[in-house]
Amino acid sequence: MESRIVDIEKFDMEQSVEVSLRPTSWDEYIGQEQIKKNLKVFIEASRRRDEALDHILFFGPPGLGKTTIANLIATQMNAQIKTTAAPMIEKSGDLAAVLTNIEEGDILFIDEIHRMTPAIEEILYSAMEDFRLDIIIGSGPAAQTVKIDLPRFTLIGATTRAGMLSHPLRERFGMHFRMQFYTPEELGEIVRLASMKLNKVTQKDASYEIAKRSRGTPRLALRLLRRVRDFAEVANEDEINLDTTKYGLDQLGVNDIGFDEEDIRLLELLISAKSKPMGLSTIAAALSEDEGTIEDVLEPYLLANGYIERTARGRIATEKTYSHFRLTPYKKDTLL
Ligand code: ADE
Repeated sequence: MESRIVDIEKFDMEQSVEVSLRPTSWDEYIGQEQIKKNLKVFIEASRRRDEALDHILFFGPPGLGKTTIANLIATQMNAQIKTTAAPMIEKSGDLAAVLTNIEEGDILFIDEIHRMTPAIEEILYSAMEDFRLDIIIGSGPAAQTVKIDLPRFTLIGATTRAGMLSHPLRERFGMHFRMQFYTPEELGEIVRLASMKLNKVTQKDASYEIAKRSRGTPRLALRLLRRVRDFAEVANEDEINLDTTKYGLDQLGVNDIGFDEEDIRLLELLISAKSKPMGLSTIAAALSEDEGTIEDVLEPYLLANGYIERTARGRIATEKTYSHFRLTPYKKDTLL
C-alpha cells in the first residue's frame, strides 16, 4: 500500500514519538475499559503471589495500542520489557538468543506473532509452558537435543490476525484480549493528553474534530495531531483551534468521518457491484492491494461501523454507505 496519512502501520520516525507520548499509568491509558479492569486484577493477583504474570495475547486491528498496553503492563509489574517482532526471528538460534537473554520476571513482547514460522513456534511452546528451551544441535544421527532452563517470564504476543495463530500457540496464552476501536470521546481525550505532553494546547472542539476523523485509532489520531500542529505553528497560532484543524485535515485528504482515498476506493468498488457480494480476491485485484492488507487494515473499521458487511459470498456495501454517498441501494431481490 502506498504511504497515506491514515496508513495504520507505524512510520519509522513515529516509533520514538510514540514512546515519548506513551502512558505510564492506567489513568493515562484511555479506553479498553474491560481489558484494563481485568488486567488490574490479574496483575494484582500475580504480585500478591509473587509470581510472573501469565502469558497474554492481544489481538485486533493495527494502531489500537497493543504495544502501548504491553509497555504499561511492564511498568505496572516493575518488570523489564524486551521487544521483538516475529519477522525478526528467522532461525531457531534467533529465538534462542532472545530467550537466553531474559531475566526472572521479564516481559517478552513479540509483535506480529502470527508471522512466526512453525519450527520457531515449536521452540516457543516449551519455553512458554515449561520455561525450558529445547534446541536441536546438528543433524542426522549426530543430532542432540540441548535443554536449557529459563527464568520465569511473561510473553505478551500481539497480532492483527488471531485466526492465523496455530491452535497450540493460542492455547498457551492464559489471557486473550481483543482490542476495540475507540470512541471519538476517548480519542479526544488521548489527543488532549498528547497535546499536553507536546506542550501545545489543542482546543476542545479541535481535539474532537481530530478524534472524529481518526477511524477509531489512536495511532492515527496522534499522527493527525502532529500534522495539525504543523499547520498551526506555520500560521503562528499559539493554540490549535477548530478552523486550522479542519483546514489541515482537509488539506491532508482526511474527510469528515475519517475515510481516505483507500476507503473510498473500496466503498465505491462495492457500490459499483450493485449490491452483489464481491469476494476478497476480486477486491484485492481491483484495488491492486494484497488480501491481508484489505482484511487487516482497510476492512475492520468499515465492518465495525456498519459501512460494509461480510456475507458467505463476499462483501457488500450497506445502506449507511449508500446514504453517505447520497445513493439509493439497489433492491436485493431484483438484482441478486
Ligand atoms: N496511545 C495509544 N493508545 C493509547 C491509549 N489507549 N490511551 C492513551 N494513549 C494511547
